[in-house]
Amino acid sequence: MATNNILLLAGARRLEGKVAVITGAATAIGECIARTFCKHGAKVVIADIQDELGQSVANDLGHDVAKFIHCDVTVESDVEKAVNTAISIFGKLDIMVNNAAVADPRKSNITDNHLADFERVVKVDLIGPFLCTKHAARVMIPARQGSIITIGSVSSSTGGVASHAYTSAKHGTIGLVKNAAAELGQYGIRVNCVSPYFIETPLSVTLIKQMEEEGRSGGVYSNLKGVKLKQEDVADAVVYLASDESKYISGHNLAVDGGFTTINPAFGLFSRY
Ligand SMILES: NC(=O)c1ccc[n+]([C@@H]2O[C@H](COP(=O)([O-])OP(=O)(O)OC[C@H]3O[C@@H](n4cnc5c(N)ncnc54)[C@H](O)[C@@H]3O)[C@@H](O)[C@H]2O)c1
Repeated sequence: MATNNILLLAGARRLEGKVAVITGAATAIGECIARTFCKHGAKVVIADIQDELGQSVANDLGHDVAKFIHCDVTVESDVEKAVNTAISIFGKLDIMVNNAAVADPRKSNITDNHLADFERVVKVDLIGPFLCTKHAARVMIPARQGSIITIGSVSSSTGGVASHAYTSAKHGTIGLVKNAAAELGQYGIRVNCVSPYFIETPLSVTLIKQMEEEGRSGGVYSNLKGVKLKQEDVADAVVYLASDESKYISGHNLAVDGGFTTINPAFGLFSRY
């Protein structure tokens, strides 16, 4: 432990020599994960459907450490190609980050929900991580190592926060993570989840605005006062699960939510009046 702390203080590059595919890395949290990974010495494949943005992130990071590839996570051949690109350009795949996701508008009545919206969200947010986990495993099994990390949400473990589709898909990712961890542990492959609270990004901006208009922002933004969750905090949690520092952690859902999903404030035992 002492050695680890010294390394962290010295700004050690915690992913030196590792190769990662990160989906949805053209912008927001995924982009921040890609940039943080490169700072820690990793090489990254940025897999996204936003070609211009993704390419510009790769250009900015430098072609020796970053490569953009067009990849729709709902299309198996795209996912296969993204994984194969990591192998052909950087020689291997150590880390798969299943970050790409979409959200649908939150509606107060289930009868107003459309099947097409539900299917679209489940396709990207659950079938996407399934395909990415499958193709990461395809190349990690022969290598007998790897770390697969899916970005979940507070909606992976609690209800009443987001839409039915998003909550269902994000709960589903936890099942996928647990099952894949159960299977892939025998090959030395770890499978985990990182579940953040709200951060303002293109995905969440409408929901956050809606909550603010309803006067429900401050009180429900976790019980941890004086700290605001940033994309970098999520990226740091992903670095930890991607690095060898977490070598015995698998099947875990790491909540980055200031205690939101473990505390029920309604009971109010510790509330201040
Ligand atoms: N922002 C939040 O408040 C919040 C909170 C909890 C969890 N999350 C999770 O964090 C992750 C990143 O969210 P974000 O807020 O950065 O979202 P975002 O919408 O800002 O970015 C998502 C990225 O995924 C890409 N993408 C969308 N569909 C894709 C597809 N089919 N194939 C490939 N790429 C696709 C988009 O082009 C975009 O670059 C998601 O898994 C999200 O569910 C976000």
